[in-house]
Amino acid sequence: MLNQLQKEINELKEEKNAILLCHNYQTKEVQDIADFIGDSLELCIKASQIRDKDILVFCGVDFMGETAYLLNPEKKILIPDNYAKCPMAHMLPADIIKKAKAKYPDAAVVLYVNTLAEAKAEADIVCTSANALKIIQSLDEDKILFGPDKNLGKYVAKHTDKTIIPIPEDGYCYVHNNLDPERLLILKEKYPEAEVLVHPEANPNVQKLADKILSTGGMMNHVAKSENNQFLIVTEVDMCTRLNKEYPEKECIPAYTDAFCETMKLHSLKKIKECLIKEEPIITVPEELVENSLKAVQKMIDISK
Ligand code: 13P
Ligand code: SF4
Repeated sequence: MLNQLQKEINELKEEKNAILLCHNYQTKEVQDIADFIGDSLELCIKASQIRDKDILVFCGVDFMGETAYLLNPEKKILIPDNYAKCPMAHMLPADIIKKAKAKYPDAAVVLYVNTLAEAKAEADIVCTSANALKIIQSLDEDKILFGPDKNLGKYVAKHTDKTIIPIPEDGYCYVHNNLDPERLLILKEKYPEAEVLVHPEANPNVQKLADKILSTGGMMNHVAKSENNQFLIVTEVDMCTRLNKEYPEKECIPAYTDAFCETMKLHSLKKIKECLIKEEPIITVPEELVENSLKAVQKMIDISK
């Protein structure tokens, strides 16, 4: 059952011909009124396919809204709270990439989608945690400048013969990098039958304890098709909100209930309603960055289809 505020948001969406896209880490009350929920790659692909809507409300962090704008420059992209920024994306400003390119002129630049448009404009191609390996293998270059997530970089390096050079040296997501492996070991003992699904942004000591390393979308697909009924989910806590809503017959246990992305959670129902009424805050990308950053995103989408 929807509450009054959720009903009002749905009416406003109708009235304004708007669609609400939300990342898997949003709270249940936001997920319940979303038109589409997904991981970074699924959200990019969905954004590239929207034709019949005038407004796109994006409940995710800044780089996701920017990507939605790149793929829909003629639409209004609203982000309910302008402070919803991804701290990891801000660890890789364009000047660090420019310096690395000058130092390694024969390397390709592959950037995680968790980057700002100013960084994407310096990339040959973008990737997500779902397709990073596939993207890297598709390139001719043997040397890859990869960033900003050092943990995803290490995961990729383990599965390819190419040389992965991290940019910056120490980029990370604070939600996943600090997870304590000891706590996961205790949970594995408590739930010996559970399959352990870990996000590649987690530190290598936690990744080592995984049965599968997957993006949030990969976790959704895996739980759907796995014969197991119980899972320990190692990523942001609200991933289990999504999993348990879609697959109530399975048991998805958040391994770290304190793994909480604060900026993802800034999008309250009240702010979603306000942003639909005022049609702001708007997310755009500076004109001079659009062509190059879009090229890097579009290349990834083409390879991932
Ligand atoms: P996914 O693409 O796996 O959803 O990851 C995005 C993200 O920000 C994880 O912290
Ligand atoms: Fe960024 Fe980490 Fe939050 Fe994902 S969970 S949006 S990488 S801070």
